[in-house]
Amino acid sequence: MAIRINGTDIEPPEDARVSLLDLVRERRHLTGTKVGCNQGACGACTVLIDGERALSCLTLAVQVDGRSVTTIEGLGSDGLNPLQAAFLEHDGFQCGYCTPGQICAATAMLAELEAGLPSYITHDLAAPATLSREEVRERMSGNLCRCGAHNGIVDAIMAVAAERAA
Ligand code: FES
Ligand code: FES
Repeated sequence: MAIRINGTDIEPPEDARVSLLDLVRERRHLTGTKVGCNQGACGACTVLIDGERALSCLTLAVQVDGRSVTTIEGLGSDGLNPLQAAFLEHDGFQCGYCTPGQICAATAMLAELEAGLPSYITHDLAAPATLSREEVRERMSGNLCRCGAHNGIVDAIMAVAAERAA
């Protein structure tokens, strides 16, 4: 088996202790994915595994053998994608350190919403999932921004969601 990272197949590491975060950053030199807490608390290391968001610091590389991993480099391979452009337009970042994780999380979060998956604060589980600023805040609550760019991040995600719904 192989681990597919941004469309390229690589052999899983022989050392089963290597995290997915270290695999992408240290061994594949994909440094867009950031190291924050390295213990599952900040979301800076968020990547997509088969389209679902995951904390790469808490994932062993061998766990994704046979699966497809997308990092921020993979999301932006054809130029800025709509979320990246919206973060720029709405001041969704300051230092930018959290931004790759935020954009990976937002990508999967919008897909979760489109699939009708509820969040912790969704009141009516039978009704179609709708997007509000509160929903975005809740669904993005695993991604922290120490610069306090959260309002811009919510604005950017709301703008992309509105574009898609139009
Ligand atoms: S570095 Fe993985 S959650 Fe903070
Ligand atoms: S922009 Fe600096 S941590 Fe979010």
